Amino acid sequence: MLDADIVSDARRRVLRALACFPALAVLPAGSLAQALANPADALGILRADQVLNVADFEALARAKLPPAHFGYLATGIDDDRTVVLNHEAYSRLQIRSHRFVDVSKLDTSREVFGRHWQSPLYMSAVSGMRAFHPEGEVAVARAAASRNVQLMASSFASFAVEDIAAARQAPLWQQLYATDDWSVTQALVKRAQQAGCTAIALTVDVMPGRNTETLSRAMQRDTRDCTQCHINNTHDQVRKAPLYAGIDVSRVKEHAPTAISWDYLRRLRDIVSVKLIVKGIVTGEDAAMSLEHGADGVVVSNHGGRAEETLRSTIECLPEVVAAVGGKAPVFIDGGIRRGTDVFKALALGATGVGLGRPQGWGLAAFGEQGVAAVIDILDRELKIIMRQAGTPSLAAITNGAVVWAKY
Ligand SMILES: Cc1cc2nc3c(=O)[nH]c(=O)nc-3n(C[C@H](O)[C@H](O)[C@H](O)COP(=O)(O)O)c2cc1C
Repeated sequence: MLDADIVSDARRRVLRALACFPALAVLPAGSLAQALANPADALGILRADQVLNVADFEALARAKLPPAHFGYLATGIDDDRTVVLNHEAYSRLQIRSHRFVDVSKLDTSREVFGRHWQSPLYMSAVSGMRAFHPEGEVAVARAAASRNVQLMASSFASFAVEDIAAARQAPLWQQLYATDDWSVTQALVKRAQQAGCTAIALTVDVMPGRNTETLSRAMQRDTRDCTQCHINNTHDQVRKAPLYAGIDVSRVKEHAPTAISWDYLRRLRDIVSVKLIVKGIVTGEDAAMSLEHGADGVVVSNHGGRAEETLRSTIECLPEVVAAVGGKAPVFIDGGIRRGTDVFKALALGATGVGLGRPQGWGLAAFGEQGVAAVIDILDRELKIIMRQAGTPSLAAITNGAVVWAKY
């Protein structure tokens, strides 16, 4: 790439960031050149702890990452409407605040699977995080360790589960894709359990053949030579991700087999000695079946709108899942969580814990470990603010009555 191309590419990327970063539009005259050089500097944002909210990290990440890598993080399916709705649906939930409640002490902790969680937040599985920062999942794990939040490692993480666990300094959850080779599943479960993982989270919401147009468009715009990093230009994660190293994957055709049935879950239950979570449930019927087939918990998730364009936000799916589970197991949720009030609303509708996907990547791309830690800090701070305002000093106090769906 010629220098001029690099400059114009950087310029294009920053202009795109400007378009979605309104604060930059009101920069004093003369500082546009500075903004084009580095939007974070131009805003006076030199450190992660200066970023005001989680969404602002997205603009910083967009400006920093090459188009294809940002596209990978951002993409949804078809028109990305489910991605948008996952977050927007929270705007239709209103909070019913109560007065005359002693909120001088706030407690955001709870027990999950017999372990103490200081915060209801957890880091959900995000694959290939080295695309966002050289330290990838290891930096995320360090941030999670510093803020003591649970981390679910992706099967397609760019670092080995043992390295991520060492950086987290506490047991991980291991996300699992069901391949069409049972011996691979067995080997993955064994490896994760040996690495000390206390839960296996089976992802069930992705079928082969996704229409990730935003990613495809970004790849078309990206003029770099992908083969520099993606050897043989392969994005075949099963043959690339460190979790599979040393495992014979020669017979694997699909990492998400189309022929999966409930029997698979029962079979998996028999080989998983730690907790078993099903990730990607959006209906009460499937939640009930998951428990019947041995799951210890479910995650209400649509893969952050990256699997199917259903137009059903996860927060709208949560109530029927919570009702079907009936308190027999924890119900987690992810998708579109960007504000402490979103966390509050999910808890009010019965979520045990609330997972973050893209915000990890944004924080990581913008400021590495510090960026991820700042994302957690912002959400924790915002959660505490709304807990105080709403008269709910503990997570147990955030009940169904704390929210109401807007009538409009
Ligand atoms: C770049 C990226 C990679 C992901 N990789 C995985 C994965 O390997 N396994 C998985 O179960 N979910 C994966 N997810 C989905 C997340 O775990 C989570 O369900 C979703 O991102 C939550 O929505 P949010 O991004 O709006 O927070 C990924 C999400 C993103 C954005």
